[in-house]
Amino acid sequence: MPYLMGLDISTTGAKALIIDESGAVIAVANTPQPISQPQPLWSEQNPADWWDGIVSSIRQALADSGLCGADISAIGLTGQMHGLVLLDARGEVLRPSILWNDQRTQAQCDFMTEVIGADRLLELTGNPAVTGFTAPKILWVRDNEPDIYAKIDQILLPKDYIRFMLSTDYATDLAGASGTSLLNVAERAWSDDVLAALDIPREWLPPVHEGTDTTATVSGEAADLTGLENGTLIVGGGGDQAAGAVGMGCVAPDKIGVTVGTSGVVFAPLSRYAYEPEGRLHAFCHALPDTWHFMGVMLSAAGSLQWYRDALAPELDFDHLLAEAASVPAGSEGLFFLPYLTGERSPHPDPLARGAFIGLTSRHTRGHMTRAVLEGVAFGLKDSFTLIARAGLPDQFEARISGGGAKSPIWQRIIADVLGAPLVNINTTEGGAFGAAILASVAAGVFSDVASACKAMIETGETVAVSSDADAYAERYAIYQSLYPALKATFTRL
Ligand code: XUL
Repeated sequence: MPYLMGLDISTTGAKALIIDESGAVIAVANTPQPISQPQPLWSEQNPADWWDGIVSSIRQALADSGLCGADISAIGLTGQMHGLVLLDARGEVLRPSILWNDQRTQAQCDFMTEVIGADRLLELTGNPAVTGFTAPKILWVRDNEPDIYAKIDQILLPKDYIRFMLSTDYATDLAGASGTSLLNVAERAWSDDVLAALDIPREWLPPVHEGTDTTATVSGEAADLTGLENGTLIVGGGGDQAAGAVGMGCVAPDKIGVTVGTSGVVFAPLSRYAYEPEGRLHAFCHALPDTWHFMGVMLSAAGSLQWYRDALAPELDFDHLLAEAASVPAGSEGLFFLPYLTGERSPHPDPLARGAFIGLTSRHTRGHMTRAVLEGVAFGLKDSFTLIARAGLPDQFEARISGGGAKSPIWQRIIADVLGAPLVNINTTEGGAFGAAILASVAAGVFSDVASACKAMIETGETVAVSSDADAYAERYAIYQSLYPALKATFTRL
């Protein structure tokens, strides 16, 4: 029987997953990853930690499965998007990776918008300049660390550093490359126009591939370290959101993905390239050929609940807090929470946006505050969902939900009511790693295409219906929408 491996370099862990051709999880191993925030707005990790972590996760997953390297037919890679990895001519890492949630690059985003023009940038890359994306990070190094900039020979995304270490080959996938601001997303190729305008040499970038293309094979040295077989196929894979959408079966426009992880994402596959005229949604290549997607990303979804518990009730477990929230009426009796704890992206690309409780009275309890956090995140998802609906959803579509935060029934109910759309659960919980393994299954010849692989490997479960609370939420959403514009100037002053 063929087995497939998915490797995921997320912000919190380096995960190795093994599945069989039916999609059954055979083994999964995760090595937690440290993160460093050496200055306000900064967020960095060391690529060497990712590599050490993934080597031990691969070894662990193989040991737990009882399989040997030769049993793995192909490997798919996924991971955090947008992160900047800089290598010198000997393939040595030049500085810690600057991550997707790093917010130091507003000046470089302003520069990009000025030299390329806001409309032209949107037209070429599908997106405005966003602080989390890769190109402004490259410019930040140029502006602030010229000695390092002078030594750059190759630029990689986090998961592509693992590809390089596994194979010695430089390559990336189109979904991941879409988050650099350097890709012509419509043409699925690096944009010579953007590269020329930013004076970034084309040779610094790796070749781009579709997610199901074989890009490399495991080297002898990596095989010795990991227990994998020398020559095992490595496919393009995808950035974590695109691979995660594959893992949810969201590969055609009739399946919308809603993911409540640290960040919150609404993901809508597109069969034709399009971009949101004001750039409030990301427009990226999907991880399968001839497919694109819209995506709204809020930066603190389950991250908001995690912060709330850690800051205000570290002695309580989440179930306790969620039970208190469930006993409070929909709308939290006038209390709102703005989830902009780490700035925001969709639909307010603003690194200086801040979190807030609004409407507190002495009547409010901890249960109200917890519920307001759950509702605030749901309203943030609604912002993206509304923009996607405006851009055009098929008459019939299914919204599928996943992510750690989505395990809570009360949160699922609130999100369904706020979006006004039933939410369908799926049987897979391994997110991007599962999607990456699905992409690998196509390269291994187990399935002819990604849609057939998803059909065979993913099952749907319980549907969360929209309840009578939806009307109350529709009114409250109008208030929520008015809060960021009212506070924007204050956030900047803060
Ligand atoms: C997507 C994004 C996050 C990161 C980390 O645009 O920024 O999903 O990839 O998970």
